[in-house]
Amino acid sequence: MSKEIVVSGIRSTGHLHLGNYFGAIQNYVKMQDEYNCYFFVADYHALTTHPDPKELKTNVFRVLSENIASGLDPEKVALYAQSDVPEIPELYLMLNMIAYKGELEKVPTFKDKVRLQPENVNAGLLTYPVLMAADILIHKGAKVPVGKDQEQHLEMARNFAQRFNTRYGDYFPEPQVFRFNNDTVKIMSLDGTGKMSKSENINATIYLSDDDYTIRKKIAKAKTDAGPVEGQPMPDFIQNLFTLLSITGSPETAQPYINAYNGGSIRYGDMKKQLAEDVVSFVRPIRERSIELQKDEAALRKILKDGGEKARASASAVISGARKLIGISYY
Ligand code: TYM
Repeated sequence: MSKEIVVSGIRSTGHLHLGNYFGAIQNYVKMQDEYNCYFFVADYHALTTHPDPKELKTNVFRVLSENIASGLDPEKVALYAQSDVPEIPELYLMLNMIAYKGELEKVPTFKDKVRLQPENVNAGLLTYPVLMAADILIHKGAKVPVGKDQEQHLEMARNFAQRFNTRYGDYFPEPQVFRFNNDTVKIMSLDGTGKMSKSENINATIYLSDDDYTIRKKIAKAKTDAGPVEGQPMPDFIQNLFTLLSITGSPETAQPYINAYNGGSIRYGDMKKQLAEDVVSFVRPIRERSIELQKDEAALRKILKDGGEKARASASAVISGARKLIGISYY
């Protein structure tokens, strides 16, 4: 039986963090043996915020290195840059014809961007979910490992697939979000103001490139409270610290601190010291390996080139089927 197709991507807009690791990369690594995987650096998606052209390559190579340093094996998966697969923008153009302005304007991530960068509300931002659908459907992807923040985009990808199928004939699968049981879907920033993100709240985000000193400093400053209040649920920013403790260390490490919290005797200072050591031990090998990988640009270029070829082999077959169904077949 042929293996199921898995597709996912990460934007090259900054340094990867624990949210990217636990929301996405951890799943990629677990899936690489059993599925037919296409994982890419979403460099076209990064263009929506007009990055400095001089920094684009460094960012792409770093994201690539951080994925490999986290355990992804380029021999087992297709690991590539989105911009190396021209069939993606071609499918994006086709899907744009069946995506509607009204539905795109309603997407919460679009509305957030309008609020955050009112001076740059470009058409690429509006059609961001269409490009994402093209990324997935170009390989007929069935499973998409992503964090919670991408679920709405996946729903739109299913809508576009369905609409294409209704209009032109059954062709695309409806891609589903994939996660292993109990996997964390959202890591919050350490100041409790929202999800960890590549470009916001950098002092409350643990990056895979952070050194030991920086990690300890950030965790020491993490937001806590005065302890549990009877009848009140645990605040989400405290829950987040326990989650980090149990996933970077182990559930057994976290349990005594959870017990202490429930018993009203939690000492956050002790808990943060433990958490800092666990996060340092977790991040250090990834950071060190990634630094090594980034030194060998020729090797990274070869990985991208080979990955791009694997991705294009799949993409060119799918796009020619789509062209035929639409009626673009003149010769
Ligand atoms: P991006 O680059 O913002 O994030 C990459 C992956 O990391 C997950 N993630 C998180 N998970 C848990 N907690 C967090 N704090 C956290 N922050 C990020 C994201 O859910 C994502 O899985 N639009 C996508 C990139 C993309 C894509 C695609 C993904 C482009 N085309 C096709 C899947 C399929 C994005 O901006 O992810």
